[in-house]
Amino acid sequence: MLAPLEGYTDSVLRTLCFRHGADMTFTEIAHVESFLRGNRQALEKIAVRDSTPVQIQLLTGKEEHLESFLGGFEPFPGFEGFNLNLSCPSPDVIRQGKGAAMIKRTAKTGRLVSIIHAHGHKASLKIRLGTNAYEKAQKVYLNILGGVDANLFIIHAKTASQGSVEENDYSVYPECVDAARGIPVIANGGIDSADKVRQLRGMGVAGVMIGRAALTNPAIFDVLRNELGLNEAVKPVPSITALEAEYDTLHESLEGGEGYARDFHRVLGKRIGKENY
Ligand SMILES: Cc1cc2nc3c(=O)[nH]c(=O)nc-3n(C[C@H](O)[C@H](O)[C@H](O)COP(=O)(O)O)c2cc1C
Repeated sequence: MLAPLEGYTDSVLRTLCFRHGADMTFTEIAHVESFLRGNRQALEKIAVRDSTPVQIQLLTGKEEHLESFLGGFEPFPGFEGFNLNLSCPSPDVIRQGKGAAMIKRTAKTGRLVSIIHAHGHKASLKIRLGTNAYEKAQKVYLNILGGVDANLFIIHAKTASQGSVEENDYSVYPECVDAARGIPVIANGGIDSADKVRQLRGMGVAGVMIGRAALTNPAIFDVLRNELGLNEAVKPVPSITALEAEYDTLHESLEGGEGYARDFHRVLGKRIGKENY
């Protein structure tokens, strides 16, 4: 899966990664309340012009807002459900009781998932291991995995207070898989090699989500699939230059935004980081 990356994962990059091996993609973080206010920038994030499989990522803490938004939502080709963001580390978002602050709110999260299901859509959760080391030590994440009937759990193996240079803690995955009661668990955080995927699959995770490594090579999905023998036959992987040209063609046909294209070309082939990821 291609991770949601604010400022990067518009329709164009999602489609490029899908063509090169990603099974699922996600729209960027957006507040449900921004959609309800008709905020153009937020609505543009979910204005999908392709049929690439995608889940719409939502940031919300209020049942009534989610209900109103879903009442006016029309599915489109490629739509695969909603993803609730329980992982955003922004102090502003946490202060509002959203993002990573929701990890310890099992009952509320369960109600949000039920609302999505009642509207006939799938619901996945993207969580961290807590907002800080204390919550991680209390294993707050296991309550969500054991108590919410989502269709899929994506677990970024860090707390919200850990910066980009700190290591992800993959050792949590076996207990997460156990707690999830058969609901698939997807691992996320620093995954960029077939060896890491092998290690994680050995712990029982159903798949992996890749973020920054896809910005430096959007075909990383096929690179890893080839190495892991997951493609029926080895699939040719284009050069970075060929991927740039493919992006530009898609950018034109899907009417991508200029800022996205500029940032895509700026980071392609380079290492990128962002504080707190
Ligand atoms: C530039 C940037 C933007 C991000 N935007 C989002 C977002 O909109 N929603 C979200 O759930 N996570 C977001 N993340 C977190 C990623 O989805 C992912 O969980 C994180 O980068 C760890 O995966 P990685 O090590 O493979 O990049 C963002 C991360 C980065 C670096």
